[in-house]
Amino acid sequence: EHSREITQTLSEFRLTTEQLLEVKKRMKIEIQNGLSKSTQEAATVKMLPTFVHSTPDGSEHGDFLALDLGGTNFRVLLVKIRSGKRRTVEMHNKIYSIPLEVMTGTGEELFDHIVQCISDFLDYMGMKNTRLPLGFTFSFPCRQTSLDAGVLVTWTKGFKATDCEGEDVVGLLREAIKRREEFDLDVVAVVNDTVGTMMTCAYEEPTCEIGLIAGTGSNACYMEEMRNIEMIDGEEGRMCVNMEWGAFGDNGCLDDIRTDYDRAVDDFSLNSGKQRYEKMCSGMYLGEIVRNILIDMTKRGFLFRGQISETLKTRGIFETKFLSQIESDRLALLQVRSILQHLGLDSTCDDSIIVKEVCGAVSRRAAQLCGAGMAAVVDKIRENRGLDHLNITVGVDGTLYKLHPHFSKIMHQTVIDLAPQCNVNFLLSEDGSGKGAALITAVGCRLRRELN
Ligand code: BG6
Ligand code: GLC
Repeated sequence: EHSREITQTLSEFRLTTEQLLEVKKRMKIEIQNGLSKSTQEAATVKMLPTFVHSTPDGSEHGDFLALDLGGTNFRVLLVKIRSGKRRTVEMHNKIYSIPLEVMTGTGEELFDHIVQCISDFLDYMGMKNTRLPLGFTFSFPCRQTSLDAGVLVTWTKGFKATDCEGEDVVGLLREAIKRREEFDLDVVAVVNDTVGTMMTCAYEEPTCEIGLIAGTGSNACYMEEMRNIEMIDGEEGRMCVNMEWGAFGDNGCLDDIRTDYDRAVDDFSLNSGKQRYEKMCSGMYLGEIVRNILIDMTKRGFLFRGQISETLKTRGIFETKFLSQIESDRLALLQVRSILQHLGLDSTCDDSIIVKEVCGAVSRRAAQLCGAGMAAVVDKIRENRGLDHLNITVGVDGTLYKLHPHFSKIMHQTVIDLAPQCNVNFLLSEDGSGKGAALITAVGCRLRRELN
């Protein structure tokens, strides 16, 4: 009897091909709304112009600093790019932590902390006195008016520092550098992580014209035709658009597939009502959906002998890496139990089977939804180019994509099923978005020289 009710609960997470096709269709509508002048202002999927007009051509050259803020790790990098017959990219980087109280403190504290980390890195590399050009990977929605100006639309994921929304984040960084009065830097570009990832991959694989992140957050970018980007003047050529697809559904268009568990996760998040698609698809939230299901099942007496422990009440216990471990097929159930034990959850063998099923249902839906979004993007590009068939590469990064044992496979299969006219190749980014940010900075520096 329990088992029937469990199946019943998890069936809410099972999406039919028809439903997924419907998600793809709605994503296409939202893409159009974000691109068109008349609907753009109220659009949920914002389709933000990036001022990146092309992928790398191999002529990029020079030494650059890069910052990479907004994913699991905050990094400062030195990237040395050599062009010519033997192109090479040499990278040095250091990971720094951003304490929770800095992520949610004041904007000044956050940017002072960032500059403090840059200072440490420059000391470490012994290059305090060189004024290097810098590319700033800032993985949040920014309204850009040029390559080196981006107004933060809204914080997403775990960030909530005050006095940043509505401000140009390049300005905030420059001011923090000035406040410190210790070194000077030339901020040349602000770059979304999707764009950095696309550029990183395109450096090796020229057919890469899409960037995808399945990590803490979920988002994509792609090369759109200038004539279709109505808020930017000019009809010729292409520009990369940061979709900010995480906000898909914020107008209620996914409400028919959202469950009570999704709503609970949303209600208790830092940005309730926002990023609804991201909250069904990305690493920061999947564990929370699982936890909410487990609490409900425990209350109904199906799990943990009906006892809700303090641990189970703790937000954020199921990180992506634990979900990934629990779902690994190589793992015996005894090991699943030991992971749960490690999290402070005392389980029986039956409990561990159920927990694994719950994780599977939640992550499968995430991968399928992400695949449905990607199917919309590749079909849009195919139609842009008037092709019956499109071959294209997607550069991908993110802990969910990299660590989870099934996510990538299910996502790939969904794209095959939902976009049969496209042959989509997924290329894992090996060196993060910092490298791509440096490549963009190199082009920015060259354009600047040409203008002067
Ligand atoms: C990395 C990028 O490679 O991927 C980060 O360099 C980005 O900036 C990240 O945010 C996404 O992954 P996650 O899982 O760390 O959010
Ligand atoms: C969030 C951010 C977006 C970023 C994504 C992946 O959705 O808003 O800018 O690309 O997370 O990190």
